[in-house]
Amino acid sequence: MEKIIVLGGKGGVGKSSISAATAVLLSELLPNKKILLISFDMAHNLSDLFKLEIGNKVTSLTKNLWCIEPDANSYAKKYTKDLIEKMKTLTKQMPFVGRIPQIEKFIDTTFTADSIPLALKNAMFFQKILDAEDINTQDIQYDIIIADFPPTANMITLFEIPEDQVKVVLKYSLNFYNSIKGAIRNVSKMWRNIVKPFDNYEERRELGKDIFNMIVELEKRGERISDLIHDIGSLRLVTIAEKPSFEEIKRARDLTKRYIKLEGVHINMIIPEPKKCDFCHKIRSLQLNYATEIKKEFKKLKIWQSEKLEEEPIGLDGLRTLAYEIYGDATSDEILKPKP
Ligand SMILES: Nc1ncnc2c1ncn2[C@@H]1O[C@H](COP(=O)(O)OP(=O)(O)OP(=O)(O)O)[C@@H](O)[C@H]1O
Ligand SMILES: [Mg+2]
Repeated sequence: MEKIIVLGGKGGVGKSSISAATAVLLSELLPNKKILLISFDMAHNLSDLFKLEIGNKVTSLTKNLWCIEPDANSYAKKYTKDLIEKMKTLTKQMPFVGRIPQIEKFIDTTFTADSIPLALKNAMFFQKILDAEDINTQDIQYDIIIADFPPTANMITLFEIPEDQVKVVLKYSLNFYNSIKGAIRNVSKMWRNIVKPFDNYEERRELGKDIFNMIVELEKRGERISDLIHDIGSLRLVTIAEKPSFEEIKRARDLTKRYIKLEGVHINMIIPEPKKCDFCHKIRSLQLNYATEIKKEFKKLKIWQSEKLEEEPIGLDGLRTLAYEIYGDATSDEILKPKP
């Protein structure tokens, strides 16, 4: 893999459209490179953009362009199945606990992939896709990944969790233990004298070791992903020429600084110069003022400015038109390694 381009910014500013347009253009400029477009937004809309049913499978769009709208739940299930099974078994083998029928049912229903916090689930599928080892086990080896990210707050967890994953997993497990502690205490008081305490210590120790190793693996994987994003990640923030989304990309710049290199800013949907419309002309002037401010604020970065197209940029042709509006006749190098 050579490059991971990540598009971020406020809701509705054109992240998905620009991700898709960039993917289409790069696939045409670089016919020998394999490109994968991924939606990391839970509210996937690549299917709408390409007018094609995509979903949770790598779908071929052209001969060197693929895309996927991953289902975070299914990744979380696959990814945590072993760990959850082991934790469940360990809990059931604890003295007393395993002997209490209510607790067993409680463990079975609580300790499931479904109850993992959403942020962790999202981060898991982010890692699953980006993990160099996993990608290499697939049939296709991608050269360029273009990631359409969710709005800023959720974007940060995607960067944060690979680094702090183990802490999150431990906190999650601790919450779980805390939630059953009360129940155990109550029931065990009643059962203490009835159930002969039994303890298969050796078995528990082995399970404990397995769980520890799995957590170590998780940590290594998290480090691998963080390093990868650090090395070949390229963040591009998308904004429209208005105050709220300008403020948002300033915040996003600060919040993402330690995870990924910010390489460019897209100012999207500027109203084209109107022929006869005073109102539109006024709006355009306001937008151009904001655009000037944005350029000043991000003067060390590449700025791509694009106007609002008359037609919604969908389908390969529509996205190609948007790409041309954004990048003009830039070379692939200028898009991949932008300079201010
Ligand atoms: N330059 C443009 N000209 C015309 N329409 C555009 C342009 N860029 C984006 N759009 C349209 O604006 C709408 C929002 O764009 P898009 O879905 O790409 O934004 P987003 O940032 O991904 O939104 P969300 O945060 O909801 O995922 C879409 O209807 C899209 O077709
Ligand atoms: Mg989107």
